[in-house]
Amino acid sequence: MGSNLSFPRVDLSGKVAVVTGANTGIGYETAKALSVMGAHTIIACRSSERAHAAVERMKEEIGREFPDKSVIIEYMLLDLSSFQSTKDFTVAFKEKNIPLHILINNAGVAWLPLTMTEDGYEAHFQINHLSHFLLTLELLPVMLDTAESCKDCRIVIVSSRLHTSAEFTPGNMNAEQEYSRTKFYSNSKLYNVMSAYALQRRLENVGVTVSVLHPGSVETELGRNTADSFWLNFFYKAYKVAMIPVIRDAQKGAATSLNAAVNPDLSSQRCLYFTDCSPTLSSSLSRDFKSQEQLWEISMSIIKEWLSWSIHQKYSPTMGLVEEEVGFSDKARPLSDDSTERKEQVKIEETGEGTPMITFRVSREVTDEGELEPNGTS
Ligand SMILES: NC(=O)c1ccc[n+]([C@@H]2O[C@H](COP(=O)([O-])OP(=O)(O)OC[C@H]3O[C@@H](n4cnc5c(N)ncnc54)[C@H](OP(=O)(O)O)[C@@H]3O)[C@@H](O)[C@H]2O)c1
Repeated sequence: MGSNLSFPRVDLSGKVAVVTGANTGIGYETAKALSVMGAHTIIACRSSERAHAAVERMKEEIGREFPDKSVIIEYMLLDLSSFQSTKDFTVAFKEKNIPLHILINNAGVAWLPLTMTEDGYEAHFQINHLSHFLLTLELLPVMLDTAESCKDCRIVIVSSRLHTSAEFTPGNMNAEQEYSRTKFYSNSKLYNVMSAYALQRRLENVGVTVSVLHPGSVETELGRNTADSFWLNFFYKAYKVAMIPVIRDAQKGAATSLNAAVNPDLSSQRCLYFTDCSPTLSSSLSRDFKSQEQLWEISMSIIKEWLSWSIHQKYSPTMGLVEEEVGFSDKARPLSDDSTERKEQVKIEETGEGTPMITFRVSREVTDEGELEPNGTS
């Protein structure tokens, strides 16, 4: 297949990892490998029965493969189709008073018939994006505390290559106008990529790296919701046959998540999109700054009532781009090397005085002013 699916086996003793949707598929293998590396691993799942069975199976498999290894794997309830359940998970996690080094937003649903959650949101939109967005922001203070000492915390978001065929249509994100099972899955995976970039922008120099990825075509239960539709089921099966040369098992499917979560070489990267453990370019729409910020604003307004005030205050402001043209007649004079500024040389004019005038377009990300506290203080 030619792809490099290796990741370094590092010592994660003393570290804590949360993996959503880890009772099966890619999440199961991701959680298992993290615990083999020594992490205290929490599998965040919606079904206590399936989660307990998964923990037992994981411990039994690890015991067989690594007889001397003692592992800490536990289950916590998280149903991403409910903001209440998501919030309850974050409260229960904080009550444990443990650090958080690795958060892997892995859980996902695909190709559902139109389904609205108890909160009134289209299921792909809420489960794959909105609730993970809430989960991440509410756990962020714990991770930022952890990062103060360890300097290397990771947020890993499992997206899909299908984000490249998605649309960003703010007027139809909740199926207000029309619904397509395939489109809404792809759209939710686009939101994963866009929100990863937007989140990283807000986490400059704090020791937290955000990564987003496509795990490859992986043999899992992801297609389970296609059975009720003859055509969808037919196309899904045909797709799987066509993908036989490249389809991988869940263990290999976990490699890109694991590499993003543990590879020491990635500790100080800005947000990257990975395929087969290597950085690749995500779609141009996913990289569009204005759309990312618009998605951030929409997502924030939806989850606002579930967010702690301090987190809302800190992270709700959107960011903008300020552009200005700056000319220098002295070639040697450097522009500021502020890494948050983008500089593009736009013209060079002869001045007749020996030194040409060089004009740069400088764009800088700026944050809106925060809102006032309810009591009126800022
Ligand atoms: N497989 C692929 O080829 C492929 C390709 C690209 C991207 N991906 C992405 O990879 C990720 C993992 O998918 P997978 O292929 O491993 O699929 P999977 O085998 O179906 O696993 C999905 C996991 O998500 C959990 N989940 C679903 N709804 C949930 C909810 N409301 N709350 C909490 N957990 C929920 C499932 O729990 P239950 O078992 O209880 O339902 C399961 O543990 C997904 O984000 C998917 O979009 C997969």
